[in-house]
Amino acid sequence: MAWDRGALRVLDQRELPSREVYLRCRTAPEVARAIRDMALRGAPLIGCAGAYGVALAAQGLTRVPRAAWRARLEQACRLLLDSRPTAVNLRYGVDRVRERARILLEEGADARRLAAALKAEADAFTEEDLECCRRMAELGADLLKRGSNVMTHCNAGALATAGLGTAVGVIRRAYQLGRVRHVYPCETRPYLQGSRLTLWELMRDGIPSTLITDNMAAHIMATEHIDAVIVGSDRIAANADVANKIGTYGLAILAKHHGIPFYVVAPSTTVDLRVSSGRSIPIEERSTREVVEVFGRSIAPAGARARHPAFDVTPHELVTAIVTEKGVVRPADGERLRRVLAGPASA
Ligand code: MRU
Repeated sequence: MAWDRGALRVLDQRELPSREVYLRCRTAPEVARAIRDMALRGAPLIGCAGAYGVALAAQGLTRVPRAAWRARLEQACRLLLDSRPTAVNLRYGVDRVRERARILLEEGADARRLAAALKAEADAFTEEDLECCRRMAELGADLLKRGSNVMTHCNAGALATAGLGTAVGVIRRAYQLGRVRHVYPCETRPYLQGSRLTLWELMRDGIPSTLITDNMAAHIMATEHIDAVIVGSDRIAANADVANKIGTYGLAILAKHHGIPFYVVAPSTTVDLRVSSGRSIPIEERSTREVVEVFGRSIAPAGARARHPAFDVTPHELVTAIVTEKGVVRPADGERLRRVLAGPASA
C-alpha cells in the first residue's frame, strides 16, 4: 500500500497468489470498501489505511462549504471505523489523524493546509508501524533457539503491515540469524490467508516452508519437532487475552498439550486497554458464503447452514509471551502488559 499522486495504491490481496493487481482508492468510502471487502487486510495495515482514509477525506473538502468540514470528516471517520470491527489498530489510525484534524480546524487551517497535514500524519503513523515491525522482529528472534521449526497461522506478514510483518517479521529475522530452519504455515480456512499470502511471502524470501491444512496442526506437532507457534493479533485486551484469526485458539491449546511455546507478536496499536478481557472483544461475523463456497464453487449442499466467526480469543494463560515494540510481555498477563507498554520502545 502506498500513497500515489493523491490516492492510495493498494495491492488487492484477494487476487494473490495468482495475480498482482492494484486498486486506486481516491476517497474515504473507497478505502472503507477495500478494508471491508478484504482487498487489504491485517490489523496494522488496516490501521494505516484508516489513517490515509481520513487524509483522503480532507483532500475532498475544497468544494465543500467550510461550515460542513467537521461533519464531513466525522462522517468519513465513522465509515472507516465501521468497515471491520475486530482489529483495534483501525481505531488508532483513524483517531490519530482525526485528532490532528480537530486541532487544525480549531486553529482555522484552510483546506490545503489541512489536507497536507493529515497526509503527513498518516505517513508518520505508517512509518511508526514499519519501525515497530523492525523492533519486534529483533525482540522476537531472540526468543528462538538455532534451527527452530515454527508454525504460524493466517498472514501476519509484510502484506498485513507497513513493514516486515509481525509474526512473519520475527520469522524473517530469525531465519537470517539461523534461528529458523523450517516454517509450517496453516492454510487458514475459510479465507486461506496462510496458503495464499503467508506461503507466497515465505517462498519469495526463500524461507523453507511446508503448507499444512488447519486440521493437520495436531499431527504435525506430534510427529515433527515444532519449537514454537508464532502468530499475530487483531486486538489484545487489558488482561492480555488475544484475539486473532479463527483457529488461533485451537492452535494455542494444541501447543500447550505438546509443550510448545506460543508467541504472539503485535505492536502496541493492537492493545486495547479499554476492554478488560477477551470476552468484550467484538468478533466479526463474515458472510457464510465464504464458508460454503470456495472460489465461487459450492462445497456444501444447497441451503446448508454455516457460521463464519472470523476471529477467536486465546485466553492469556495459553500465551507464553507477547512481543511488542516496547518489549516482551512474559508472562502474558495484564499487569506485565501495562508495565511493558508504559516503558519506552526497545532499541
Ligand atoms: O481477516 P484478516 O486477514 O484481516 O485477519 C488477519 C489476522 O488475523 C492477522 O493474524 C492479524 O491481523 C495480525 S497481522 C500482522
